[in-house]
Amino acid sequence: MTPTDREAALLETVRAQPVPEHIAIIMDGNGRWATGRGLPRIAGHREGVKAARTIVRAADALGLRFLTLYAFSTENWSRPLDEVSMLMNLLERSVHAELPEFMARNARLRVLGQTHRVPAGVRRGIDHVVHETRNNTGLTVLMAFNYGGRDELLDAFRALARQVQAGELKPEDISEKDVSGALYTADVPDPDLLIRTSGEMRISNFLLWQIAYTELLVTPVLWPDFGASDLYQAVAEFQKRTRRFGKV
Ligand code: IPE
Ligand code: IPE
Ligand code: MG
Repeated sequence: MTPTDREAALLETVRAQPVPEHIAIIMDGNGRWATGRGLPRIAGHREGVKAARTIVRAADALGLRFLTLYAFSTENWSRPLDEVSMLMNLLERSVHAELPEFMARNARLRVLGQTHRVPAGVRRGIDHVVHETRNNTGLTVLMAFNYGGRDELLDAFRALARQVQAGELKPEDISEKDVSGALYTADVPDPDLLIRTSGEMRISNFLLWQIAYTELLVTPVLWPDFGASDLYQAVAEFQKRTRRFGKV
């Protein structure tokens, strides 16, 4: 069997059972991938973009409804200025280049995060793709960009506080549904599975509210090496888990 045959066989196996609705990925390890090859970190980010493209296709082949990709955190601004500006440009160019494929796949792009705080040119480029794909009904790709889980909760609490202040909501009536609905992920189901590449066993301020009962999977594979088969294998692993939600 060729690797392509193996990948197709694996896809067929996992598709025979229910696949998750929503997978979220912390795409980590670009820097280590590059450093290990004696390359500058940005070379790792470039390869990381290719991996993201592969995974969007694989998610579509799986029939996922939502794929969330952590592309840039609020903490990532603390990296060296040249890495940050190269990442911004790379993200904008890559998102722009994906527009035809998103349209062909009937896929939609949404952004999670405070995009009003990113450079205007980058924001405009990404907003354009979000706008053009808004009526597509297939896979929704949620790109977490200038995203922080605590910022997201703060924004939600502020929105709810304003409703209370306006007399539209009573503090004692605030429900989980109200909080969920005030997050950037309003109307998106919580992730069933969260994958982190490159072996780090931490959440790094990602989807803090939404992952209350998400299954976690950490793989040592560095993000640029993460391929369609790795995603299908992660789903196969997910399918073996028993989700108990606190019950017996
Ligand atoms: C993930 O790779 C991409 C971003 C955070 C933008 P890293 O750049 O964090 O790679 P490592 O963790 O340094 O290897
Ligand atoms: C998390 O990775 C953020 C993204 C993948 C965008 P980091 O590399 O920034 O996380 P830490 O610093 O290892 O926690
Ligand atoms: Mg990292």
